Amino acid sequence: MVDNSSLQAAIAELKRRKHAVILAHYYTRPEVQQVADFLGDSLALAVEARQSDAEIILFAGVHFMAETAKVLSPDKKVLLPCPEAGCSLAESCDAAAFAAFKARFPGHKVVSYVNTTVGVKALTDICCTSSNALKVVESIPADQPIIFAPDRNLGSYIRKLTGRQNMILWDGACHVHEEFSLEGILELRRRHPGAQIVAHPECRAYILEVADFVGSTAAILAHCGSSACREFIVVTEAGILCEMQRRYPDKRFIPAPPTDAACGCNDCKYMKMVTLENIYAALRDESPAIEIDEQVRLAAEQSILRMIEIS
Ligand code: 13P
Ligand code: SF4
Repeated sequence: MVDNSSLQAAIAELKRRKHAVILAHYYTRPEVQQVADFLGDSLALAVEARQSDAEIILFAGVHFMAETAKVLSPDKKVLLPCPEAGCSLAESCDAAAFAAFKARFPGHKVVSYVNTTVGVKALTDICCTSSNALKVVESIPADQPIIFAPDRNLGSYIRKLTGRQNMILWDGACHVHEEFSLEGILELRRRHPGAQIVAHPECRAYILEVADFVGSTAAILAHCGSSACREFIVVTEAGILCEMQRRYPDKRFIPAPPTDAACGCNDCKYMKMVTLENIYAALRDESPAIEIDEQVRLAAEQSILRMIEIS
């Protein structure tokens, strides 16, 4: 078995030789984050994919993120080291079923979370991420009805913040963020009375109600840095703890438990499918590469570019 540092050195050499960059999400494994040229949340990664002048973009993340990069950079080779790295939220919104749903609500603008397939993005007016969902919805006139897809928890949260009743939600969710245990979180707070609860808006409403701060991955990271608090109970995917501890070594970060402690589902199993081994193989073989039908790509591109304009 080859050790991590030899693989990391081999990946660095391939990157240099092939003019490739690695973009990685904060939820990937720590050793994968270490080989990234750019580490970010889904919004920052989309913006970086668009700006990059590399010939090859290797996406250390899940399928919809690599697809977004290919939509924005059609002339580049976009590699996804593990094609099985999907997303339960994106899978909860099938494009054909969504088209039928949309047809039931004529005159509605469609706002879709970037955690969707390219087929759903092609049916969307404006994409958003958890970082800019509020801004995107607020950019639409108050009397314009909206369909918000696919995350019902983020949608309900935005509906609560804006007081907007003319927003219909698609009934989708992420298996990681749905599974946090309220009792477990409150028990942690009893044991750490000075700790703040920080949560991602994909969590259920009853979790967001007890949170001291709600925000996207990047917003949570920034909040933990600027807050005077020294301890945080982190209610999102546990991969983020690696970057938190790296940035703020003097603070303490406690991962929130899932309802079923044995399932380990505060880790996104899809993000963890990306390994140094499959990154090395993908760079070496320049495969698997993302391919998208040009008609679908053009339709999806509009919705992503509008999102980037608003961010
Ligand atoms: P961010 O938009 O915060 O990066 O979240 C991506 C994601 O997949 C959340 O589960
Ligand atoms: Fe998808 Fe949830 Fe994993 Fe994010 S954490 S990539 S929403 S399954």
